Amino acid sequence: MKQDIAEKKYRIGFTAGVFDLLHIGHLNLLERCKSMCSYLIVGVCDDDYVRNVKHKEPVYPLMDRVRLLNALKCVDEVVVINTAETEDKMLCIKELKFDVLFSGDDWKGTPRYLKTEEQFAEFGAKIEYFPYTQGISTTQIKERTKSETK
Ligand code: CTP
Repeated sequence: MKQDIAEKKYRIGFTAGVFDLLHIGHLNLLERCKSMCSYLIVGVCDDDYVRNVKHKEPVYPLMDRVRLLNALKCVDEVVVINTAETEDKMLCIKELKFDVLFSGDDWKGTPRYLKTEEQFAEFGAKIEYFPYTQGISTTQIKERTKSETK
């Protein structure tokens, strides 16, 4: 049964990532996000970001990643974000007016996120950190598939 809106800690939540080769680590994150907000917006990094910043070629093109995320019942809305928006979440909050940014705990305490926490406070917004699911990632899936086809 769907959780009553009134029980959720936040109204609008936002999380962002590449979400290539959608896997259980992604789903764990998205379900945790949705358990804490009434309306979950997912920012999907565009292909230029994946190529130019992560120096990887996306396996699933942008619009396939968008469609897969849109099909999940824990996701309410999907938006495409460019490199500037991926690297500066202030650009996202100004546009999307969310109350909370959900992020992996590998970013907690980094200068970039400490600064974002301060900037968000002016908007009355928070950052919540979730643990990264161990043992799975897009990179690991690609490597496993590569070694099995040799
Ligand atoms: N994520 C997670 N647990 C995993 C993999 C990803 O919680 N095992 C989270 C990330 O912290 C991020 C979001 O899912 O908030 C999107 O991550 P993304 O970079 O697309 O996934 P990875 O599988 O880590 O991709 P890569 O191996 O290319 O870095």
